[in-house]
Amino acid sequence: MDFNESVKKAKHFLQELETPFVGRHEEALVIVLALLSGEHAVLVGEPGTAKSALVRRAAALLKARFFKYLLTRYTEPSELFGPLDIRALKAGTYARVTKGKLSEAEIAFLDEIFNASSAVLNSLLSILMERVVYDGYTEIRAPLWSLFGSSNRVPDEPELEALYDRFLLRAYVKPLDQDYWDSLLTAAWKLEVGEVGEATPVLTMKELEELHKEVLRVNVNAVKSQLIKLLLTLEGKGLHVSDRRKGKILKVIAAHALLNGRKVATEDDLIVLKYTVPKALEDFEKINVILMEELKTRERVIRELNELKASVKLAATKIQNTAPYDPRLTEYYRSLNAAKNKISNLVKDFDNDEEIRRLADDLMSDIEDLIHVITARLNV
Ligand SMILES: Nc1ncnc2c1ncn2[C@@H]1O[C@H](COP(=O)(O)OP(=O)(O)OP(=O)(O)O)[C@@H](O)[C@H]1O
Ligand SMILES: [Mg+2]
Repeated sequence: MDFNESVKKAKHFLQELETPFVGRHEEALVIVLALLSGEHAVLVGEPGTAKSALVRRAAALLKARFFKYLLTRYTEPSELFGPLDIRALKAGTYARVTKGKLSEAEIAFLDEIFNASSAVLNSLLSILMERVVYDGYTEIRAPLWSLFGSSNRVPDEPELEALYDRFLLRAYVKPLDQDYWDSLLTAAWKLEVGEVGEATPVLTMKELEELHKEVLRVNVNAVKSQLIKLLLTLEGKGLHVSDRRKGKILKVIAAHALLNGRKVATEDDLIVLKYTVPKALEDFEKINVILMEELKTRERVIRELNELKASVKLAATKIQNTAPYDPRLTEYYRSLNAAKNKISNLVKDFDNDEEIRRLADDLMSDIEDLIHVITARLNV
């Protein structure tokens, strides 16, 4: 698989994942970023916000060994890692029957993850971090690629902190705004009557591993210094990132770059801090505001291009109403040239973005037309 094919595969997966849902683009993105970077993700939100449905669909779209379980405070290690192998025990060895359990899964989903009791917590921590299951005496390598957790809350118990920290990616799934309710009813109905149907796999684990290798080949050097600057800003505003997470964020940045068809990460890819920095629920909104101010993101570029478009339109009417040789024409001339420079700078990192390119091209040609009008009027 070459780079372009990888991009296509990754995009297609995201598209397939989010299709049946309304307003769940970011949540789907978080799941895909976790898969591409080989990390774990947790979805936090009130009941009925499609958390389980999203993870179930992601698993169905992957041809992978999948394990899912709803944790309660009474869940025993044997429910996740398999019961003791009595026959082996009789022969004097301590082992578990792991068939179909978390120990053998490539993709896993633990619903109500923060119900984990201390009995299962340690085993969970080591499978999440080191991909091994300690079996009393033996150590089994686990093929786990990504584990998804869901919960209605963010944990505040100290013993659950370590577990929460191991989810590099986090999404806060909020109920949909009123504007979406109409589409929600339609979408939920389609899901309910089975019109959407079971998802069929569009990606194998082997392909996912190849995508991951491409992610690791993305050049992230250009964004490192800006990442550090941002982390400092965030730290100053009380948003602390553990050292473990700091080191891993680059991988998610690379995954975001790949998903957007870039071999070299750009400022736009730092948007993933939105899904890797927040800890408390209120952090999600806080970081959103900070990133909007600090980052040249796709959304921001589009907004600024549209603002420029409006002012160019305004300038056009003014120029129409200006008499030939009027000295103000040179002023317009100068600011239109400045606008051209600004546009080039704005879109510099968005070569592959069709919407941005179209907006910028149209705007550039409008400006060129105006410059022609001005030079004609100035008779130069
Ligand atoms: N944004 C949405 N778009 C389409 N359908 C939705 C959406 N939100 C919820 N639904 C419908 O509601 C159902 C319930 O969602 P789901 O069981 O996944 O919620 P949950 O967040 O896992 O809840 P809980 O926290 O109780 O486990 C979905 O299967 C789907 O039919
Ligand atoms: Mg659920």
